[in-house]
Amino acid sequence: MNTNLKGRSALVTGATTGIGRAIAVALAEEGAHVIATGRNTERGAAVVTEIREAGGRADFVAADLAGGSAAVDALADQVAGLAGGRLDVLVNNAALLINPQATGELPEELIDRAFAVSVKAPTLLTGRIAPRMAAAGGGAIVNLGSINGVRGMAGSALYSMTKAAMHSLTKSWAAEFGPAGVRVNTVAPGPTSTERNEQIRDRLEPMVAATPGRRLTTPSEVAAAVVFLAGDGAANIHGATLFVDGGFTSL
Ligand SMILES: NC(=O)c1ccc[n+]([C@@H]2O[C@H](COP(=O)([O-])OP(=O)(O)OC[C@H]3O[C@@H](n4cnc5c(N)ncnc54)[C@H](OP(=O)(O)O)[C@@H]3O)[C@@H](O)[C@H]2O)c1
Repeated sequence: MNTNLKGRSALVTGATTGIGRAIAVALAEEGAHVIATGRNTERGAAVVTEIREAGGRADFVAADLAGGSAAVDALADQVAGLAGGRLDVLVNNAALLINPQATGELPEELIDRAFAVSVKAPTLLTGRIAPRMAAAGGGAIVNLGSINGVRGMAGSALYSMTKAAMHSLTKSWAAEFGPAGVRVNTVAPGPTSTERNEQIRDRLEPMVAATPGRRLTTPSEVAAAVVFLAGDGAANIHGATLFVDGGFTSL
C-alpha cells in the first residue's frame, strides 16, 4: 500500500525509546521527515543517527512535556521551523507509564504529573498544531491509547484514566478537526515488548496467557498501525481505534 508519506513531515512525541522510537523509525522508512522529541538528548540523538544512517531524514527537539503551555509552545514553534512551516503528521505517543498502585495510595503529585504529561500536553500540542494543519490543507493525528483505556484493571486507575482520556480526545478531535481535513485516530496497543516491559515480563504473563495471540505485541507492530493511520491508505478513517493487542479486547 502506498502511504504517500514520502516528503511529509511528522512529529513523534516520546520518540527516544520504546514504541515512540519504533514509530519514528517506521515513519522515516516510509520517507517522512521525522521530528523526534523527548527529554533525553542522548537517546534522541541515537534515534536521529539510526534514521539518518538508514538514509532517512530526522531531527530531534528536546522538550519536557510536563512544562505546560510554555514548553509546548516552544516545541510547536521549533517543529514548525524544522518542518518548513508545514507539519503533516502528529503522533501523540509520550505518556507516563505508572506501576500498579492502590488508588488510595496514589500521591497527589503523581496524579498531577500523569495528567500533565499524558493528557494536558497532548491537548495543548494538538491545540497548537491541528489548526495549523487545517490551515495548510489537512493532516493526520494519531493518539496512543491502550487496552487500559477501555478495560478495568485493578491497580491501574491513574494510568488507565489517562489512556481513556486519549480515546475520548480522539473522538472529540475527529469531530472538531475532521471537517477541516485533519484526521484523528487512536492506536491502542496491548502489552508491548518494550525495554521497560521486558523487565516486568513475569507480571505480564497472565495477561498474555489470556490473549488469543498468546504473546506480547512488538513495538514495530504498533508502529505499523500508526503508519497506516497516518498515511493515505486511511484517507477516510476518522475517530477510529485500531487495537494492536493480540485480540485481548475481542474477548
Ligand atoms: N508499552 C506498552 O505495553 C504499552 C501498551 C499500551 C499503550 N502504550 C502506550 O504507548 C505509548 C508509548 O509507551 P512506551 O511503552 O513506549 O513508553 P516508554 O518506554 O516509557 O517511553 C515513554 C516515552 O515518553 C517520553 N516521555 C516521558 N515523560 C516525558 C516528559 N515529561 N516530556 C517529554 N517526553 C516524555 C520518554 O522520553 P524521555 O524519557 O526522553 O523524556 C519516552 O520516549 C504510551 O502512550 C503508552 O501509554 C504502551
